[in-house]
Amino acid sequence: MAETGTGLECIVKLGGSAVTDKNTLETPRLDAIRAAADIISQVRGRYIVVHGAGSFGHFQAREHGVVWGYRDKETAAEVQTVKLGFCRTRQSVTKLLHLITEEFVGRGIPAVGVSPLSSWVTDDASVVKADTDNIRDMLLEGFVPVMHGDAVLDRRRGCTILSGDTIIKHLCGVFHPPRVVFLTDVAGIYDRPPEQPAGAQLIPEIQVDQDGKLHVSIATSSQAHDVTGGIALKLKSAVDIVTESNGRTCVMVCGIQSGTAVRACVEGQLPKGTGTIVQLNMCKHPDEVT
Ligand code: ADP
Ligand code: IPE
Repeated sequence: MAETGTGLECIVKLGGSAVTDKNTLETPRLDAIRAAADIISQVRGRYIVVHGAGSFGHFQAREHGVVWGYRDKETAAEVQTVKLGFCRTRQSVTKLLHLITEEFVGRGIPAVGVSPLSSWVTDDASVVKADTDNIRDMLLEGFVPVMHGDAVLDRRRGCTILSGDTIIKHLCGVFHPPRVVFLTDVAGIYDRPPEQPAGAQLIPEIQVDQDGKLHVSIATSSQAHDVTGGIALKLKSAVDIVTESNGRTCVMVCGIQSGTAVRACVEGQLPKGTGTIVQLNMCKHPDEVT
């Protein structure tokens, strides 16, 4: 895709697990949203923020089967159920968008909410249309676009759910930022689900070969109501971002309320052991670069 010359410095994902209590319907974590506002208020270059849905969207999407759409439904009533689920999912996730942009603008950040539904379309869940011209224009005018995982129209299914992680992957192909930072409710990517009693180990560095092969073994889990694949999709997106950019973009994963989050987003530094960096095999850990 064409280089758009925006000089985008970083894309930051505010994970749904981080900015909401993912287990309790429509429960924001205001302290985490404030921490995110604090981080973004310190950045100087051009940034895009993308947030997940957490408990604002996953429940409604799961209950009404929004991921699979309505095209294959046999009765008008079934079609209507999915369509109303689509509407409820959007109502919920845009509430969270409003909460986040309200906090950001209140902190003096020129943040504008941009919902994918208006200009992104998928076909069997793959992005086939994504208007990024408006994002580029906003960046060039000095705004901070805030996008989010969304319910979108899908050519094959009628509708589906588009994850923030997939949106970020697509944005990287257009804007080529040097880094993407995923801010989550845990310190980074572990060798196994961190809630397991056996003692999961934080993986400081994940080296990826150009063909997508990883040099570590990672076991993952996701919550029953998560409709977008949880940490496994994040890891897959991270691997795709580094391989498709030939290593020009590196991915950092760290806790939203850690001092590391500020360093990763503002300075592009991830001190070893404080989060996870995913990068193409051969590249150096940013901490080792003088
Ligand atoms: P987000 O909503 O922040 O985008 P997810 O909910 O998709 O992120 O993933 C974060 C969750 O994944 C964490 O709450 C963590 O408990 C769980 N998880 C499961 N396996 C792992 C793993 N191997 N490493 C890190 N987190 C994991
Ligand atoms: C999910 O987006 C979008 C909806 C369910 C509407 P994400 O996949 O980015 O959300 P999180 O981060 O897992 O909550």
